[in-house]
Amino acid sequence: MNRLTNKHIILGVSGSISAYKAPDIVRRLQDLGAQVKVILTEAGAKFITELCLQSISKNKVHHNLWDENAELGMGHIELAKWADAILIAPASANTIANIALGKANDLLSSVILANDAPLLIAPAMNLKMYQSHTLQDNLSTLISHHTIIIRPESGKQACGDIGIGRLAEPSSIAKQVAKQFISTKLTGKKVLITLGATIEAIDPVRFISNHSSGKMGMALVNACIESGASVTCIYGNITTTLNAKSNNISIVSAQQMYTKVMDNIAGQNIFIACAAVSDFSVKNASNQKIKKDGGDLTLELVPNKDILADVCKLKEKPICMGFAAETQNMLKNAQKKLKNKGCDVIILNKVSSADSGFNVDENEVIFLSQNLNKKIGKNSKQKVAKKILEIFIKECL
Ligand code: PMT
Repeated sequence: MNRLTNKHIILGVSGSISAYKAPDIVRRLQDLGAQVKVILTEAGAKFITELCLQSISKNKVHHNLWDENAELGMGHIELAKWADAILIAPASANTIANIALGKANDLLSSVILANDAPLLIAPAMNLKMYQSHTLQDNLSTLISHHTIIIRPESGKQACGDIGIGRLAEPSSIAKQVAKQFISTKLTGKKVLITLGATIEAIDPVRFISNHSSGKMGMALVNACIESGASVTCIYGNITTTLNAKSNNISIVSAQQMYTKVMDNIAGQNIFIACAAVSDFSVKNASNQKIKKDGGDLTLELVPNKDILADVCKLKEKPICMGFAAETQNMLKNAQKKLKNKGCDVIILNKVSSADSGFNVDENEVIFLSQNLNKKIGKNSKQKVAKKILEIFIKECL
């Protein structure tokens, strides 16, 4: 199982002869599923070329604190936001001193100050430099700031000395980065999630929709990604922010959501239907704005295809989790949906109170499967999503 699936790692390469091992470190991180961006310090560039690291990482190599091409001109902030962890390998004595002092005099040190993700440092230098009191004091300072030090190895050094100071092996460095992330049974799984409200046109101006904000579905997207899953997110009308790490596909109507789900369902391990899909669309929606003429207007509605039910009927069916938005006879209706749609799990969501369900930040639900009826008490949608996944993993994987 790839422990770094979906993870964004920044590799800082500073001035040491062992910078020649940096491309191998990039490869080992990629082998574990990570995306890697490299920051090359001025001294690092004396030992390894930008072109080499760019070719291996398949990303632009960053070195300039004053990058005019960066969005808003603040490249260090953009990179800091992108990173799930920062690794400096090799870390020179000078770079270690800079970071221990909290300096922000180049791109690498600035990104580190602007990031609160795990920081790992793999020192590499001459043994006397490594054993010096100053270097050891700087490492102690960094450890007290929760930096993880990947100890160098002993052996023959480039300068001819023999002793401690050689950069740790690339595969061992990559494994230590992976250890920072929890592996669950969702790691490496493919999950397709629908969320938000569909919009059914009446005419070019008016439509039928509902109050879904996409917040509950997005909390599930985020929780799945945190657990190492690869997520495809098919979303309708939402008021929440998308996760840049999922494959995001926008739709408007229930029919479009149906098509996109069916186009993307092959190979998915799990399907989560959190979208509030309109059960009906308008037959013969008008191409022109309908004019009022003083009389009644009758709209003829036709049923939409049931996405969840049809996914559950597929020959190669993923494990399916549906939601049931209910206002009355809740348990009975939700159990009926579990059975009739043929899904493995239904999350019963009461939507008649103003402080949970649609378009608010909190929710309370019941996890229903053939063998289980478990209440998840009122909490933020993020916490409810994590609890849903915890039970799902235990029950269904
Ligand atoms: O988005 P938020 O504001 O955070 O609100 C979250 C939510 C209340 C929308 C969400 O938690 C929720 O309950 N979503 C399901 C809404 C819904 O459409 O429920 P339903 O009982 O009508 O449908 C049952 C299931 O069938 C759902 O999984 C739905 O996605 C699916 N369905 C319904 C109709 C249809 N044509 N195709 C479907 O796949």
